[in-house]
Amino acid sequence: CGIVAYTGYRQAYPILIKGLKRLEYRGYDSTGIALLNEQSLNVYKKKGKVSDLEDFLADINVNGTIGIGHTRWATHGEPNDVNAHPHYSFSKNLAMIHNGIIENYSSLKQELINHGHEFQSQTDSEVFIHFIEHVQEKVNCSLEEAIRLALKEIVGAYAIVIMSKDHPNTLFAARKGSPLVIGVGEKEYFLASDATPIVEYTNDVVYLDDYEIAVLSRDSLTIKTIEDESIAPYIHTLEMELESIEKGGYEHFMLKEIFEQPRSVHDSMRGRVNSATGHLLLGGLREYLNKMIHARRIIIIGCGTSWHAGLVAEYIFEEFARVPVEVEYASEFRYRNPIINEGDVVIAISQSGETADTLAAIELAKSKGAIIFGVCNVVGSSIPRATHAGAYTHAGPEIGVASTKAFTAQVVVLTMMGIILAKAKGTISETDYRKLLVELETIPEKIEKILSNHKQIEYISDLFKEARNFLFLGRGYNFPVALEGALKLKEISYIHAEGYPAAEMKHGPIALIDEEMPVVFIATKDSSYEKIVSNIQEVRARKGRVIAVVTENDKLISQMAEFIIEIPHTHEALMPLLSVIPLQLLSYYIAVMRGCNVDQPRNLAKSVTVE
Ligand code: G6P
Repeated sequence: CGIVAYTGYRQAYPILIKGLKRLEYRGYDSTGIALLNEQSLNVYKKKGKVSDLEDFLADINVNGTIGIGHTRWATHGEPNDVNAHPHYSFSKNLAMIHNGIIENYSSLKQELINHGHEFQSQTDSEVFIHFIEHVQEKVNCSLEEAIRLALKEIVGAYAIVIMSKDHPNTLFAARKGSPLVIGVGEKEYFLASDATPIVEYTNDVVYLDDYEIAVLSRDSLTIKTIEDESIAPYIHTLEMELESIEKGGYEHFMLKEIFEQPRSVHDSMRGRVNSATGHLLLGGLREYLNKMIHARRIIIIGCGTSWHAGLVAEYIFEEFARVPVEVEYASEFRYRNPIINEGDVVIAISQSGETADTLAAIELAKSKGAIIFGVCNVVGSSIPRATHAGAYTHAGPEIGVASTKAFTAQVVVLTMMGIILAKAKGTISETDYRKLLVELETIPEKIEKILSNHKQIEYISDLFKEARNFLFLGRGYNFPVALEGALKLKEISYIHAEGYPAAEMKHGPIALIDEEMPVVFIATKDSSYEKIVSNIQEVRARKGRVIAVVTENDKLISQMAEFIIEIPHTHEALMPLLSVIPLQLLSYYIAVMRGCNVDQPRNLAKSVTVE
């Protein structure tokens, strides 16, 4: 979702529309704006693109020097005109845009209904703005005070901007868990989810913090905490040009996307997991969950990196949900007259949602009566439209051709899917269920920790940048990671690399090992640890050069390997989310050192729409 708002001396409408376009990359399915002028407070909303809203407003008077705009990605309630933001209060005196999820909205809604409130949409956001008005009436206080008191009752995440007929030049904004940036101009203020809609007007920004409420009029900005303590606004200067913001200041999109993973993984779980309450929900799955519970087998299809995410899912689904899983390349699946029975479940994984082979495989499976779930990153793309149900990965736009943050987001969503299914089938113990949820929530900070070690990985990359071959070995959950590590290196550095199950090495690849051969072991502490230690010995005995990704404080492997890269401990089933990170960095640095075009490697495309 995206937020943009303006108050000042200029016409608000063009600023809002342009801002919404800048936020398009975030993914959304409907848009809306509210404008306030001397006559009225007007709200306009449309399902679809910003340009649909623009067309809709072409002949409408859009006067006004204060306004709010929103791109919505549906959570509560389907994407349609009514559920789009802004939402009105009961009296239509207030309009609000909201990013985030209100967890206690149903009890608040009931309370408001008891007080005679009526709702037009199915959203939690509409409840939110009604509640603020309700508090103001009940306490008989200022709007600012009512917002503050209401926020104290709200459980969940939000970034909100509110406009009121009674305050013709003022915007009220607050945040908790969802970003808001204030742009500070000369007698004008801007608000947005990130700096991209603001940067062409001003470089002076204030980042609102959690539990802060800002009141912005043309010539004043005040910030208070939710406890009513004043905060002096701290103005940051944006040093980036418009263009560099698009890369976020990173040298390459790929590097930016690797470093975005703590956030993208968090975004993929946002509103879906809560270990404290045991809440785990993928909204898009609900309607068809029963079909999945009764499926005799699950077929997972995808291409490239998405196929690797499918392999991780196979381990999770089989271990916890006790259902047979087959993982197929979409291209192979469709050309071999696959046996599909009525009620079989197919999960199609795709970052772009546009891969032709995957789309064609979906159509084939559908025609044979399968139920299809999608796991895609690009909202509104073809695959989500072609599937019966699914879940978006919410990694944000991935621009680098070599997939990084989309992979981890896919694994997170598939993991949640597997756990939901296991819980529904009763095949997972309560202890395992809780443990997995707790661990899932720690993944972003653990990724952060691995990323902070990037210098060491850069150092190792420098030593191996001239290698002509690489071998990546892992077992169990780390086997798909070995494949992914090899694929990354091939894709962007053009070094030949193979990924193998570590135990299979002795059946072939061991013949390749000599003193020139770098072998990357993914050897974290898990159920196959002892076995992989033996595999490391086998490589060492043949003078192979071992780089090992190990769990922190692993004394044993640190004595055997030439280099070790330590990563934090986590549940074995979640380890791919951590162990893949050093491999992404390794391939990135090697490719850069070899002078390769990292973001657009030769012969590859981000989205392959030919078969
Ligand atoms: C292309 C990309 C890969 C990607 C694959 C599948 O080959 O270069 O990075 O993994 O397509 O794409 P999808 O969008 O379906 O995940």
